[in-house]
Amino acid sequence: MKIAIAKDKLAAEKRVAASPETVKKMIALGAEVFVAAGAGTASSMTDDMYRAAGAKVVAEDEAYKDADVVLRVRHPSVEDVKKMKKGALLIGILSPYQEKELVKAYAAQGIAAMAMELVPRITRAQSMDVLSSQANLAGYRSVLEAANEFGRGFPLMMTAAGTVPPAKVFIMGAGVAGLQAIATARRLGAQVSATDVRPASREQVESLGATFVMVESEETKAAETAGGYAREMSEDYKQKQAALIAETIKKQDIVITTALIPGKKAPLLVTDEMVKSMKTGSVIVDLAVEQGGNCALSKIGEVAEVNGVKIIGYPNMPSRIAVDASSLYARNLLSFLTPLIDKESKSLKINWEDEIVKASTLTRDGTVVHPNFV
Ligand code: NAI
Repeated sequence: MKIAIAKDKLAAEKRVAASPETVKKMIALGAEVFVAAGAGTASSMTDDMYRAAGAKVVAEDEAYKDADVVLRVRHPSVEDVKKMKKGALLIGILSPYQEKELVKAYAAQGIAAMAMELVPRITRAQSMDVLSSQANLAGYRSVLEAANEFGRGFPLMMTAAGTVPPAKVFIMGAGVAGLQAIATARRLGAQVSATDVRPASREQVESLGATFVMVESEETKAAETAGGYAREMSEDYKQKQAALIAETIKKQDIVITTALIPGKKAPLLVTDEMVKSMKTGSVIVDLAVEQGGNCALSKIGEVAEVNGVKIIGYPNMPSRIAVDASSLYARNLLSFLTPLIDKESKSLKINWEDEIVKASTLTRDGTVVHPNFV
């Protein structure tokens, strides 16, 4: 069984899909591991470290050649898909909702493509949950990026030269990223408040020492799907929420937006007028910028400035903390891969009816099998 570790070539991608630690474990499971030269360099995981762990470091094309499994961080290019052998597994964060043409290419190539972001959030799959492992780090990093652009400090400081007030930080969307952003901003000494459409998040926000701000209505009782995700809200709710946010936002120094709806465009929460109502020197971080943005004025890949308010639109925040993001992602992949390997024969033996496998498999045997992409 040959496992290839690809070099992710998308812009701004510094992460890698295997660490020296997970390479050792894959070898212990009976695999031969081939790492594309330089795949881990941007995550401080050198070719020598992979060699010491037992992998062969080779040119990328050679890694792909005859590989039974290709592990990567983000989706491949069409050219990379064509390098894969029929029946091989491709595992990564494949963004199938955005990359529909690639889903067809996986089917045409006869490979089984598995999208890690579709792994269901059931107890057994917690160690495979890439959305959580990466969102948690993105939430942490977003606060540091905001602090870096902010011309003031976060904590209350009483000095002989006078008192510095604490920064007011508002987190929009209290999922995994939002909760870590709250915890990080609190550790830095900020006064933190947060909002969400799921009433269940109130307790989590308050337990982290932040204030919860929310429009509660009959609708919010059903705002959470069985999977724990948010639904898209009605126009009436959106208007009430916008009025509350407009009031809250103008008093803030830092706003971090993390609101997402799976498979849909991110909800627009911070309008043009709201940005313009903020104090000069304030900072917004839009973590949803790749899904269309929670802020009307964020620009992907840029720090935009409007009326003295900076709006950070960095895509791929986990890649800005690549070493930890890669280590955790690599462990997620190892947890996902382990049950697909038969310990006796040391080869792939996949139960296609397994709940986790079924939910994440996009294509197989030349056809698109996932109902959302047929
Ligand atoms: P996400 O990344 O899909 O969205 C981020 C947050 O934005 C969510 O809290 C969502 O409710 C909120 N949001 C969406 N639309 C909004 C709007 N219009 N206004 C304000 N907020 C809005 O969510 P994430 O972080 O993936 O978490 C989703 C759920 O999954 C949570 O309930 C979380 O606790 C749960 N979860 C469960 C896990 C498990 O059981 N293994 C693991 C991780 C998360």
